Amino acid sequence: MEAKLSVNINKIALIRNSRGANYPNLLTIARDCEAFGAEGITVHPRPDQRHIRYDDLAPLKERVTTEFNIEGYPSRQFLDQVIAVQPHQCTLVPDLPGALTSDNGWDTIGQKEFLVDVIKELKDHGIRVSLFINPEEHLLDGAKELNTDRIEFYTGPYAHNFSQDREKAIAPFASAAQHCNKIGLGVNAGHDLNLKNLHFFKQNLPNLLEVSIGHALVCDALYYGLKNTIQMYQNELKKV
Ligand code: PXP
Repeated sequence: MEAKLSVNINKIALIRNSRGANYPNLLTIARDCEAFGAEGITVHPRPDQRHIRYDDLAPLKERVTTEFNIEGYPSRQFLDQVIAVQPHQCTLVPDLPGALTSDNGWDTIGQKEFLVDVIKELKDHGIRVSLFINPEEHLLDGAKELNTDRIEFYTGPYAHNFSQDREKAIAPFASAAQHCNKIGLGVNAGHDLNLKNLHFFKQNLPNLLEVSIGHALVCDALYYGLKNTIQMYQNELKKV
């Protein structure tokens, strides 16, 4: 199975916002990422709209020809925006307002009542749902009960531990991915994936459907250019 590369363009929006004008233009960037080989575009509007803004969503949905994925905490405002825009996928994250970045997965047991309604609402509007999650069996079983289509593994700890002991770093993700296969959950992954750790991750999770990558990819593009960089990430995903 081939895993799709979805490019998270939040960091590009951060650069745009730093000068108050529409440069770089997100629509051009999204179109170029796709032309260079991205199979999806991901955005993560946060409550302070410090990078992607809510008014970016509809024009991006119009422009993206691959898969449009909107991530975020399911506040009422977020859900209304997502439902209006109808992305292909919505990835729910448990970030508190003001979080620097996502750094934990959902408690699918403790938050069951809240999540079950949110997921139903999105699915009733034809939007595929993915839940950001840590690789633990009981949380995955909880996610399955909520009727989510997919989960997205929070890969921060994998990336953090990779350089010390990659076998140890991958072990919980590999077995959690097998569990997803068994219970019928699609597997996405994201956070801190980069050119060094991506191939090993994909190699050990044969059922990986999609990765979303932002920070490292944009940093690499400063050196290699966006086109080369996207192709380098694709090479890591596709090589055996
Ligand atoms: N997945 C989620 C839920 C995220 O919040 C982020 C960061 O916005 C990513 C994936 C991508 O992480 P990174 O920018 O480290 O590639």
